[in-house]
Amino acid sequence: EKGGWSSFMAKEISEEPDAIANTLLGRVVDGDVVLPELDPIQAALDDVDRIIIVACGTAAYSGILGKYALEKWAGVPTEVELSHEFRYRDPVLTSRTLVISISQSGETMDTLMAVKYAGERGANTLSICNTQGATIARESDAALFTHAGPEVAVASTKAFVAQVTALYLVALKLGIARGTLEPGVVAGHLEQLLALPGKLSQVLETGSQIRELARGMSDTRSVLFLGRNVGYPIALEGALKLKELAYIHAEGFAAGELKHGPIALIEPGQRVFVVVPSPRDSDSLHRKVVSNIQEIRARGAFVIAIAEEGDVAVLPYADDVLRIPLAGPMFEPLLAVAPLQIFAMELAAAKGLDVDQPRNLAKSVTVE
Ligand code: BG6
Repeated sequence: EKGGWSSFMAKEISEEPDAIANTLLGRVVDGDVVLPELDPIQAALDDVDRIIIVACGTAAYSGILGKYALEKWAGVPTEVELSHEFRYRDPVLTSRTLVISISQSGETMDTLMAVKYAGERGANTLSICNTQGATIARESDAALFTHAGPEVAVASTKAFVAQVTALYLVALKLGIARGTLEPGVVAGHLEQLLALPGKLSQVLETGSQIRELARGMSDTRSVLFLGRNVGYPIALEGALKLKELAYIHAEGFAAGELKHGPIALIEPGQRVFVVVPSPRDSDSLHRKVVSNIQEIRARGAFVIAIAEEGDVAVLPYADDVLRIPLAGPMFEPLLAVAPLQIFAMELAAAKGLDVDQPRNLAKSVTVE
């Protein structure tokens, strides 16, 4: 039931801190990551030399964050592929390949077929699902469940943050096992993970600022989203949400691509959301994205920056700034996504649209 919420989507966004906390529950113990669900593929994990993540839609964007974590923390070469592309192109699979599927419903036909295909060709399969007893989980060698609770709104929200949390746990576990992470670094990352629910609750308190912003933009015909590094999948997700819910043309780009094409789209009044990297992570990345903001601003874009608290470098150039608490570079995407989800929901609501049941979409696509 919706409780007092205007929509299931609003309710589910409010449940994101719990989705993360519940997905972590019992899995971080004494500075270690405890995932007995991986036991059936333990031998394969010890030997893995490549990971391929398969998923569709929002789940595929969580997969990009999973890739960054798996490569950064565990040093395992990782690719992300849309499930429906994966099995139609003769992918190279060996007994040392781990195919991780991600699916909220666990019933998406394209992802199910990708898992079956991978298994038949000798790869090991791990699924990350939010629905107990789901077909994809049953068809996989091992299954790790996210505990976001049932997601009713068609557009995925709380499942996304839970998926990223689960992927980060897997990456940390592999990093610990492979010795690619110093114990002190593991401790720091686990601390950041455990602190996310509280910080995300703070972000959700800024909902009214985002509602105002959305209401002022209900006549907008096109919105662009830029992000770089871990901000890139967030830009893609921000654009997807806006398409799905508000039926507005939206595109997400890697900020570094700007000068290779998208900047041609910038004309006076073009709305652009920019997910700004943490200045503490990489000074040069932060500077590059701030300079992207200057470039599009100079061409008349209306810029909404999503930036860390205390990042004053964006202030002279952004028309609006949505703040997120400091959380460490890898963890900030989990805080930056909510403002974009809320923006899409509020804009759809301002246009009088049904945010839980957007036209033409289904919660779970069980046909190919
Ligand atoms: C789409 C949903 O049909 O399927 C998206 O509208 C979702 O919200 C995508 O991300 C994948 O679904 P699932 O259940 O496999 O995560």
